Amino acid sequence: MSEVTHGLPDGAAEIELGDGLIDELADEAELLDADSSVLKPHAPTELDPSRPAILEADGLRMYFPVKSSGILRRTVAHVQAVDGVSFQVPAGGSLGLVGESGCGKSTTGRLITRLEKPTSGAIRFEGEDLAKLSKREMKPVRREVQMIFQDPYSSLNPRHTVGTIVGTPLQVHDVVPKKQVLSRVQELLEVVGLNPEHYNRYPNEFSGGQRQRIGIARALALQPKLLVADEPVSALDVSIQAQVINLLQDIQREFDVAFLFIAHDLAVVRHFCPEIAVMYLGKIVEIGDRESIYSAPRHPYTQALLSAVPDVRQASTGGRRERIRLEGDVPSPIDPPSGCRFRTRCPIAQEICAKHEPPLLQIGRRHKVACHFPGRLGQAPTEPLTARLLGVDAHGNPDAGASPSAEILEQRPGYADTWFDLDNKTFARA
Ligand SMILES: Nc1ncnc2c1ncn2[C@@H]1O[C@H](COP(=O)(O)OP(=O)(O)OP(=O)(O)O)[C@@H](O)[C@H]1O
Ligand code: SF4
Ligand SMILES: [Mg+2]
Repeated sequence: MSEVTHGLPDGAAEIELGDGLIDELADEAELLDADSSVLKPHAPTELDPSRPAILEADGLRMYFPVKSSGILRRTVAHVQAVDGVSFQVPAGGSLGLVGESGCGKSTTGRLITRLEKPTSGAIRFEGEDLAKLSKREMKPVRREVQMIFQDPYSSLNPRHTVGTIVGTPLQVHDVVPKKQVLSRVQELLEVVGLNPEHYNRYPNEFSGGQRQRIGIARALALQPKLLVADEPVSALDVSIQAQVINLLQDIQREFDVAFLFIAHDLAVVRHFCPEIAVMYLGKIVEIGDRESIYSAPRHPYTQALLSAVPDVRQASTGGRRERIRLEGDVPSPIDPPSGCRFRTRCPIAQEICAKHEPPLLQIGRRHKVACHFPGRLGQAPTEPLTARLLGVDAHGNPDAGASPSAEILEQRPGYADTWFDLDNKTFARA
């Protein structure tokens, strides 16, 4: 199979994703890099592949009904917020979930914590499918799975003292005798770097970073095994972001808690998450270990996101330092594009992309990508690599001579021992 250089459109040196959010991210990342005295990160969290999955999302879907106006309020459409998402989070590990605004990150987090019930799919937490549990059956699980929210201002009740905020979960779940609640609250405040004597203060007496620490203390109160952190540092100043990420790393090490860490850019999760999933319009388009995602991204969307992060831009884009311009807005999740959802903005889309959804194909030991033309930036293959597996020709039309590979196309969470090697165009085995 021959290879062709696609490259960037001439003169495309700036990225414009959605509302310019990515430009902001790039500026932030530059700031982080420029002043290393501001960001003193701990050593990156490493992957321990020997740990079993504590959480397994399997084909998760969340379709929100859109109702007509009028008395009957019929369902006229669905917002396909999350559409067939599968991943694993290892015990004590952390998976980063990134993507532009509206791609379904928070909805995924809300499904995992069962703040929403999925339309379909399984949420296996320590082997038990949370999607099937009733509210009552979920109560003991809530101790194990907690959430940290983005906005440290709105997520804390301004009329409650810190002691009440952090102590309430202890009382609701009857974790410690009433007499010990205060001392446990103080311990928790100390763990998150706050003065334990400040338990009687109100949230408005704290800075944004301190409030986020209160939210973290509240989430830790029940000693969860999994924390879903939904943009936990996005509302904070850059210098404070680094401190909070360091704190989360400390907590992870000390309490062996696993994280699903949601962020809108790849710069924030890089240190903390040895594995990363990139979402676009309700689907995972690429997932893999840190090395694969940052140094060898194979999806055009991941390549575009990475091109906005200055210090990894060079590595990820094979030495080119241009930022990639993606045209157009993110389509509506009510009526997403046929085939590949990214095709309306993809610089290398071809005919097959409109006809067939690309499977999330395993292309490395811990690396999967959903693209018919996965390749290095500027070196995408001319022929769709998925055609043979799908049983179609290069244009996406049925091909009697091809035999679809059901085993390879099966979308399981986690990784198999066999994968499709893009360089040799053959199957490789661990
Ligand atoms: N309760 C709901 N009813 C209808 N649509 C919803 C609901 N919650 C979310 N959505 C829609 O689902 C899609 C995904 O939303 P979600 O909040 O999960 O995105 P996100 O990736 O977290 O975005 P952001 O980065 O802005 O937080 C969006 O189009 C959103 O408008
Ligand atoms: S499948 Fe086609 S449209 Fe989708 S990312 Fe790959 S090349 Fe682009
Ligand atoms: Mg969100």
